[in-house]
Amino acid sequence: MTKKSGGKSQPKRPPKGSNPRIEAARAYTRFLQGQGLPSAPPAAMTQEEDRRFFQNLLSTLVRHRRLLAELTTRFAGRPVDQLDPSVAALAALGLAQLRFLPHIPAHAALFETVEATAALGVGRARGMVNGLLRNAQRKLQGTEAPRWPEEAELPLAVAESYPDWMVNRWQTRLGEEATGNLCREGNRFEGVTLRVETRRIGMEELMTRLGEEGVETFRHPLWSRMLTTTQTGLLIRSQPFRQGLCYIQDASSQVLMGWVSPRMSGRVLDVAAAPGGKLGWLAGLEKGRPWLAGADHDPGRLAMVRENLTRLRLPPAALLAADGRALPFPHRVMNGVVVDAPCSATGQIRKYPELKWQRRLEDLTGYVEKQSVMLAEAGRVTAPGGIVLYITCSLEPEENEDQVEAFLKTHPHFHRVSFGTLPPPEGLNGPGRFITRKGDFQVYPGDHIMGLYAAFLRREG
Ligand SMILES: C[S@@+](CC[C@H](N)C(=O)[O-])C[C@H]1O[C@@H](n2cnc3c(N)ncnc32)[C@H](O)[C@@H]1O
Repeated sequence: MTKKSGGKSQPKRPPKGSNPRIEAARAYTRFLQGQGLPSAPPAAMTQEEDRRFFQNLLSTLVRHRRLLAELTTRFAGRPVDQLDPSVAALAALGLAQLRFLPHIPAHAALFETVEATAALGVGRARGMVNGLLRNAQRKLQGTEAPRWPEEAELPLAVAESYPDWMVNRWQTRLGEEATGNLCREGNRFEGVTLRVETRRIGMEELMTRLGEEGVETFRHPLWSRMLTTTQTGLLIRSQPFRQGLCYIQDASSQVLMGWVSPRMSGRVLDVAAAPGGKLGWLAGLEKGRPWLAGADHDPGRLAMVRENLTRLRLPPAALLAADGRALPFPHRVMNGVVVDAPCSATGQIRKYPELKWQRRLEDLTGYVEKQSVMLAEAGRVTAPGGIVLYITCSLEPEENEDQVEAFLKTHPHFHRVSFGTLPPPEGLNGPGRFITRKGDFQVYPGDHIMGLYAAFLRREG
């Protein structure tokens, strides 16, 4: 009889790259060292549940970066920046689970995080990470919500994890209370919104088909022709998504396009079109579809427009790689120009929390300059009677109404058309909330919606 090797069988080790906590801590370490975030979980992480957990951990770490660093300093008893970045990442990972992911049993959060020290090459810090997290856990006991008493005394920018410059300028403009709400809304992400290709499938049928693949969807509370879901990973791999029956597009963009598209006719150019959300909306119009062209200065991103139009089986549009500051078109040839301008994107922080740490106050000047040239160039190619639709996903007035005021001053043949005079999309709940005092379109991040600004400008002469 041959002897079985080793007697008891060893537990099978999970493949490298498949542990969500270890991989989230690795990715966060790289982020703390100034690198970007991965666009997807590691390929070795094959289980859907693990992939979701990885994404959830990583975005929680990035979203609450400043608070987690502050708490690490307090519980470690020394400044976080004196710790090895992997140790700081692991401490943040443990604290993030205790504080923001209360469905995870504390003992599992602590045990797994401490175990991960070896995988991150900082096994020597095992005792220190363990001590810090136990200390933190002890201090949470007896508190109603998982919130440390230390947090109460922190300034808003630390407690809600935003850079000082952002919070300071919002406080000056909007006041304490509104800024507090804005910061909290920016830290809440309820999932994505879907545009349904209603030319090809009914809402109910799509909900059923997605449901069959485990993707639960809900009608959007603002406008029932949009759907929401939290299961983005599953959605993207589902058959209906791959067959182009739906597209991920924030509610703010869909409401805006639903509002303005009946007025966009003739020859329409989208000068910053990638990845093609707004262009796709126009291309999908069943009635009064304009002739469409889409430009973007980045050929790689322009390819995304082509892919999206193809996947969604939308009628093709003329696509060109071009700089929106120097368009290859003569004067006054377009009946509509969409300028969805590159911007600080402060309205999108809930989906892209890394923006909080990537943007600098100094960046605003560069965006404002670029937008102003793109807006002037859009004005140049717009025919009399035509429309410039200027859009940003910024909350900053310099990029929004101030930009538009400056344009109107130097382009007296243009005037602003108030959204109050354009019929809102049928079935939209409370359209008045989207209209500013000056008549522009403005959304602040809220229930299932991100920040967006738009002005509708008509050329007279
Ligand atoms: C806010 S995104 C556009 C989103 C798109 N309209 C949509 O709805 O999916 C801004 C786009 O502007 C492009 N961009 C930046 N600078 C540009 C320039 N000088 N000329 C043309 N496009 C530019 C970027 O590559 C990016 O794709």
